[in-house]
Amino acid sequence: MDLYEHQARDLFVAHGVPVPRGVLATTPAGARGAAELLGLPVVVKAQVKTGGRGKAGGVKLARTPPEAQAVADSILGLDIKGHRVREVLVVEASAIAEEYYVAFLLDRANRTFLAMASVAGGMDIEQVAATRPDALVRLPVTDVDLAKAHEIVTAAKFPPEVADQVADVLVKLWRAFVAEDATLVEVNPLVRTEDGSVVALDGKVTLDGNAAYRHPGHASLADRRAENPLEAEAKDRGLNYVKLDGQVGVIGNGAGLVMSTLDVVARAGEAHGGVRPANFLDIGGGASATVMADGLDVILNDPDVRSVFVNVFGGITACDAVADGIVRALDVLGPTATKPLVVRLDGNNVAEGRRILAEADHPLVTVVDTMDDAADRAARLASREV
Ligand SMILES: Nc1ncnc2c1ncn2[C@@H]1O[C@H](COP(=O)(O)OP(=O)(O)OP(=O)(O)O)[C@@H](O)[C@H]1O
Ligand SMILES: [Mg+2]
Repeated sequence: MDLYEHQARDLFVAHGVPVPRGVLATTPAGARGAAELLGLPVVVKAQVKTGGRGKAGGVKLARTPPEAQAVADSILGLDIKGHRVREVLVVEASAIAEEYYVAFLLDRANRTFLAMASVAGGMDIEQVAATRPDALVRLPVTDVDLAKAHEIVTAAKFPPEVADQVADVLVKLWRAFVAEDATLVEVNPLVRTEDGSVVALDGKVTLDGNAAYRHPGHASLADRRAENPLEAEAKDRGLNYVKLDGQVGVIGNGAGLVMSTLDVVARAGEAHGGVRPANFLDIGGGASATVMADGLDVILNDPDVRSVFVNVFGGITACDAVADGIVRALDVLGPTATKPLVVRLDGNNVAEGRRILAEADHPLVTVVDTMDDAADRAARLASREV
């Protein structure tokens, strides 16, 4: 789960990372009040879960309370890369001398954590990373004590006068990263102000949803209004679903099988006008009729979906039970189910499973024996070549 800047900021405060004072506002008048409270000038910042707010006109300086009101009025309601601005964070403006970049993240590919740091922070860090990779230091880390923090500071060539302060911030950010089970903690910019202090002016935090059970407090950080409605619906039904941008709905049992199904569909799609998987959906081991119906319902409600590939390997829950689930799910959905389903069953009790589907003879269902052929069939149906 990605956090809003103001939530990341609260988390930084809780772990002792220095941030400017700030107040959240939902109306222009609220922003004016915040400016009066904080003192001037202030920076008014759109709260959206996407980058590049500054360049989209979502970060603006205001020198007077009426100006804060006017600026907030122009930012609230903005659409920034598909994210509507509902709140602004009003913060005291810092006199910036230098902008840096620091981050900790989970490096899945290398099975470790990564510290990233640069003295060329600010709004264009992505460009720095692309054009001057040497200006962005990347160090694998497993624990960050003060000595490790100084190693990062030295590697990134922070000026000596801020070395101790930046190292202290790094240790605190690392503690926040570990304590909150984050997969990303990023500060851009971390600034040196003209009076020599080091302050985090913008923060990005991603919390690991798989660790949510350890953090009852994290649930309150979720913003249902900003979630994809299909994902929210799937979450309510306890399904493991991720919306993607293609046209072939995918249902399978077991995360590994579903991942390979996505690959096979993407490859098959290349021959059919470039159609791609529309989602990830793992219905898990006990693929009961209810779970199958819930899964199909979510996928069929996705307007992007043109065909569905149900790919099930019968294990503890055998193919006959899954086939039964599909038939009953289609019964439950009735006329609301309108898109073609390609079903591939294999494994435990496969013959009985296929017999059940053949007997039901549902007009939307085609049973295909192999995974490759089924992917090809589903991709062709989604490409509207049939
Ligand atoms: N409190 C502040 N005081 C002075 N300047 C600020 C303050 N907050 C932000 N800025 C300036 O605005 C720039 C952009 O701000 P910020 O990093 O918060 O947004 P962004 O980088 O555009 O957003 P995102 O990180 O979402 O891409 C900063 O690099 C900094 O120069
Ligand atoms: Mg930023």
